[in-house]
Amino acid sequence: MIKDNQEDEMKIREAAEFIKNGGTVVFPTETVYGLGADALNEKAVEKIFKAKGRPQDNPLIIHVSSKNIEAYAKEIPKVANELIEKFWPGPLTIILKKTDIIPDITSANLNSIGIRMPDNETARKLIELSNTTIAAPSANISGRPSPTDFERCIEDLDGKVDYILGGGQSAIGVESTIVDCTLDPPIVLRPGGITLEMLREVDSRIQIDKAIMEKPKDNLKPKAPGMKYKHYAPNAKVTIILGERKKTIEKMQEVVHYNIEKGKKVCILTVEENVKEYTEGISIVLGSAKNLSTVARSLFEALRKCDDLGADLILAEGYEEKGIGIAIMNRLNKAAGFDIIEV
Ligand code: TXA
Ligand code: MG
Repeated sequence: MIKDNQEDEMKIREAAEFIKNGGTVVFPTETVYGLGADALNEKAVEKIFKAKGRPQDNPLIIHVSSKNIEAYAKEIPKVANELIEKFWPGPLTIILKKTDIIPDITSANLNSIGIRMPDNETARKLIELSNTTIAAPSANISGRPSPTDFERCIEDLDGKVDYILGGGQSAIGVESTIVDCTLDPPIVLRPGGITLEMLREVDSRIQIDKAIMEKPKDNLKPKAPGMKYKHYAPNAKVTIILGERKKTIEKMQEVVHYNIEKGKKVCILTVEENVKEYTEGISIVLGSAKNLSTVARSLFEALRKCDDLGADLILAEGYEEKGIGIAIMNRLNKAAGFDIIEV
């Protein structure tokens, strides 16, 4: 296995050879790192599921280096073309009816396929040089927080893939927004870097799938198969405290104190505006409450850091479900198994 952390065209060329020959390559994108293989080669795609330990009923999304997707998708509605025009390359995956060229294993037997064009030079170059479309889930072991840097990919997948291509820290930090354009109006199956407000500039009728922001109920199943699994989960228990700032801080202090008294190791996920309020526990500053993109960027890394520190409990401040805050709360909710204390 080769590991390389230099953004060097020769290395990308070398990695592309592995893709062409049915191998697996971990590569950077602007959202999170991906674990890629030739989406049109069944044997290659099988290796992705195996390396991640991913359930076979969870479809993969494919990555392209141009906006021309006619080989992979059919009956493309006007709204999809408008979204592509406005947000590609970028953190937006569009679900469309698939063409027969996409093997069933890639789409987990669905007749649709998720497609995205990453806003990352290394990723696009790799796709272009591989001369195919690359299927890639996030490059973590199934269920763990997605990796946003080279070292975390090595931690999860060393020895399990053919090549790990580095490229710095992922700029967005949470996975792409997924919009199902086989439905009219389209529905957001997973919130991400492209916010609902941004999508509504293209079609004001776009909504978020109700099943994903709430605790899973038997009668309400998310439309993105992957969203039903336990996800983004560190080993430590995660609890979110949600409410107005002052009350949140007071409750956090109380819960931290109580658990430390009981001999627990507690990590606090907070923002630079609040960090000085916590005198007990280990505080991790995610970013600034004034710019939630900074929080999104460091969230997964922080969850992994808490595990490195041997935390028993992770206490996270909640965020307003607006803009990128929706994606942050979605990932936190899932990491916490919807264990939320409202104050
Ligand atoms: O930002 C991203 O999207 C990253 C980078 C690597 O591109 N990829 C990623 O892939 O997050 P993954 O496999 O970890 O998440 C894809 C999600 C899963 O929840 C899956 O169930 C859903 O997309 N999905 C894929 N194809 C689908 C389809 N045809 N219909 C509904 N949901 C689909
Ligand atoms: Mg994933």
